[in-house]
Amino acid sequence: MAVLSLDEVRARADKDFTRVMDVLSKKIALKSVSAEGITGEHMRRSAEFVAQELRKVGVETRVVQSSNPDGTAGAYEVVGSKIVDADAPTVLLYAHHDVQPVPDPSAWDTEPFAATEVDGRLYGRGSCDDGGGIAIHSGALAILGSDLNVNVKVFIEGEEEMGSPSFIPFIEAHRDEFDSDVIIVADSGNWSPDIPSLTTSLRGNTSVDVTLRVLRHPVHSGQYGGPVLDANTLGAMLVASMYDEHGELVIPGLEAGEPIGGLQRDLDEASLREDASVVDSYEFAGIGSLASRIWSKPSVTVIGWDAQPVDTSFNVIADATRIRLSLRTAPGQRPDEAQRALSDFLLAHAPLGAEVHVTPLDGGMGWAMNPDVEATKDAIEAMRQAFGVDPINKGEGGSIPFIPELQRLFPKAQVLVTGPEDPKSNAHSPNESISLAILRNGIVAEALLLDKLGQ
Ligand code: BES
Ligand code: MN
Repeated sequence: MAVLSLDEVRARADKDFTRVMDVLSKKIALKSVSAEGITGEHMRRSAEFVAQELRKVGVETRVVQSSNPDGTAGAYEVVGSKIVDADAPTVLLYAHHDVQPVPDPSAWDTEPFAATEVDGRLYGRGSCDDGGGIAIHSGALAILGSDLNVNVKVFIEGEEEMGSPSFIPFIEAHRDEFDSDVIIVADSGNWSPDIPSLTTSLRGNTSVDVTLRVLRHPVHSGQYGGPVLDANTLGAMLVASMYDEHGELVIPGLEAGEPIGGLQRDLDEASLREDASVVDSYEFAGIGSLASRIWSKPSVTVIGWDAQPVDTSFNVIADATRIRLSLRTAPGQRPDEAQRALSDFLLAHAPLGAEVHVTPLDGGMGWAMNPDVEATKDAIEAMRQAFGVDPINKGEGGSIPFIPELQRLFPKAQVLVTGPEDPKSNAHSPNESISLAILRNGIVAEALLLDKLGQ
């Protein structure tokens, strides 16, 4: 049960890195966009590929198609294990093999589904979210090989980007394959390419569709414009009513928290502006630390709006509109409760008495790390060694809603949220990429962590 030295782990990682890059590049080429159909052949091929690659690093894997709560066929999931010693601790490695769509390839500087290396980063859809998670697990297992001293289970999900609809029935049907002492969820971010992080919290999320009607049918904008505002303008007034003059949400019942475990370091405004590609004249909305605004306070985004496209517009007053609002919730608030607060507010603020209806959509809970568990200390130490600097732990504004579900079903499991992202990764956007420094050091860190967990 030798503790592997840092030098040894690093040497093995360097030797294996070409293989890892090759696996990640092939994974990107598989175009595993779950929004194009979770049950599609392209998703099965992606799952089979991941299963085969994990087999090459010693994990017995299989592809299982899940079932949705209504009994219909669900995602292609990869499950597997490498059992070394019945008395050793068991670690579950999580990542997801589905990726976000590419609605506009012309917005990319490289071919989205052809892995392309530029200046220390590998570009491509899913290079980071979450092909990077799969690559890190694969690299760590390859390094440890027969020196692995923990039992490993793997779960590589096929529908994370769709909100994991069949997740609960799937785990309930495969309890043994998930039962573990430590769960490493490699689907989150780092402070920067040089500074690793353990994720301290994630926000929850939920959405609603708002329909607003002012007329029973569209009418001439010259004949009636003035007293009759169009549905889009009324919709804009409704959306604007959620904010005060600072751009701070004013919805009663939406909880706001402070960063979990105290604010280790606030986000730097200049870097945030640069990383998010904010235009120079824009001033950030909201109050409080930037970190709290992204990690632990709620936010609402209009992610869809049905309105007449400009090119086919003409002089008519729109009778109705439909708006989809995506709500990110504070890590500790139940999404259904937050959703009700939002709906109640919208219904109470119908501008000028327009008819407003709110249709609730799905939601998922946020998550906060338990800083006291032993595995957290091991993870921080492993990251410190691998990256050669002190980690800066951070919350994240994104959501991984199955984590609280997993925690509820396996209350004793210690959950660690790690991952391949950094502020320049452009997950979900054009020009997604992974930092090769994070990929390499992340592999070393996970190998060291698994080794420590086995002590
Ligand atoms: N990897 C992200 C979660 C994430 C985002 C972590 C940003 C750290 C920073 C994950 O794949 C994701 O995008 N989740 C969805 C969940 C949704 C579909 C329920 C999200 O946050 O929108
Ligand atoms: Mn992800």
